[in-house]
Amino acid sequence: MDRHYRYDLILIASADRNWGIGLGNRLLKRIPEDMKRFAQLTRGNTIVVGRRTLESFKDSKPLPDRTNVVLTRDPDYQCPGAVVVHDIDELMSAIGGFEGKVYVCGGESVYRLLLDYCSLALVTRIDAEFEADTRLPDLDSDSRWVREETGEWQESSVGVRFRYDSYKRRNWVHTQSRT
Ligand SMILES: NC(=O)c1ccc[n+]([C@@H]2O[C@H](COP(=O)([O-])OP(=O)(O)OC[C@H]3O[C@@H](n4cnc5c(N)ncnc54)[C@H](OP(=O)(O)O)[C@@H]3O)[C@@H](O)[C@H]2O)c1
Repeated sequence: MDRHYRYDLILIASADRNWGIGLGNRLLKRIPEDMKRFAQLTRGNTIVVGRRTLESFKDSKPLPDRTNVVLTRDPDYQCPGAVVVHDIDELMSAIGGFEGKVYVCGGESVYRLLLDYCSLALVTRIDAEFEADTRLPDLDSDSRWVREETGEWQESSVGVRFRYDSYKRRNWVHTQSRT
């Protein structure tokens, strides 16, 4: 049934020490260096976001210079400039023909929904603990994922340390052929 599904999606997120990612539909910390990297990586490609994350963007508008795909269960939801999809099947049909990379950009519900379709996860770890109401699954405790790169801690201009980690999906080919 899901033969046309893609398994090469790229998760991208920032998470604190406890894998917290957001509070009150906002990021826990805006790290300018990380925002710049996010823009560089995703520009010219496709991002997939949940409706709540899209509405957390400036003026609740899609991000410029990339294809924005937004997930909602609301059949009447309108979002000019974005591709609106209503379930995973519709999402996979929409992105099946897209050229370039497809980045899964949150929030929590979308990370959880699409984790099994990602082959790579780019996680900016923030060396701090914040109050959070949304989290990324702990990839260090998930045997399906292996941390491939552990970045050097860097000092951000906003006063927190952060580093860029990347995770690779184990047995990706096996997973793909099993489903
Ligand atoms: N740190 C990071 O890297 C990062 C990145 C992105 C977001 N965030 C944070 O994450 C938080 C938001 O996460 P969230 O989980 O509350 O919201 P979300 O995942 O952004 O959006 C949730 C909405 O997506 C739609 N949706 C989810 N699953 C769906 C499915 N299977 N089919 C159709 N539609 C579906 C629903 O929209 P409807 O209600 O319209 O049906 C749902 O209410 C915010 O605090 C945000 O700042 C952090």
